[in-house]
Amino acid sequence: QSDIGSDLESVLLSEEQLSTRLAEMAAQIDADYAGEDLLLVGVLKGAVMVMADLARQLHHPVEMDWMAVSSYGSGTKSSGVVRILKDLDADLTGRNVLIVEDIVDSGLTLSWLLANLRSRGPKSVEVAAMLRKPEANKVEIDVRYVGFDIPNEFVIGYGLDYAEKYRNLPFVGTLAPHVYAE
Ligand code: PRP
Ligand code: MN
Ligand code: MG
Repeated sequence: QSDIGSDLESVLLSEEQLSTRLAEMAAQIDADYAGEDLLLVGVLKGAVMVMADLARQLHHPVEMDWMAVSSYGSGTKSSGVVRILKDLDADLTGRNVLIVEDIVDSGLTLSWLLANLRSRGPKSVEVAAMLRKPEANKVEIDVRYVGFDIPNEFVIGYGLDYAEKYRNLPFVGTLAPHVYAE
């Protein structure tokens, strides 16, 4: 942690805040899907931490599958044009699907993913996202379970990267401007 100290501007959400909120989300999901089949779909790579922690806080028996997508576009902004790098192993026909995401930023990745998964004949498709940025309000997507609404800052940690780094931080922090100005 001290090694990244100078790259970090501030801690936005502590490990404890994240796990407390995840426990609440897990309890809600347990209640909502009681007696129902449930398939969690994690979106690689950012959702790895949320998926692992959320799944372990659930009492509900779930299956877990993974999808990797990449949005075309320049640098840091997603374009909404998405390519599947790794598809699901599971057949979604008749399944209750819960997409697990680390963050909804522009919402473009998720709106593409929702349309894609809904075309596969599932019983239901909902979304659980740890973080949501204000931009996401511009797109018409219903995120059933949201951890935290956060300001429009560059956040890292708990799965979230900057140039593939900082994903392993156990908390969510903001990046010091000198890092991306370099
Ligand atoms: C990030 C994040 C979400 C997506 C949100 O993934 O993990 O999946 O962007 O952005 P949007 O709402 O503007 O579409 P990214 O494409 O960086 O891949 P990663 O998960 O491998 O970091
Ligand atoms: Mn992602
Ligand atoms: Mg990323």
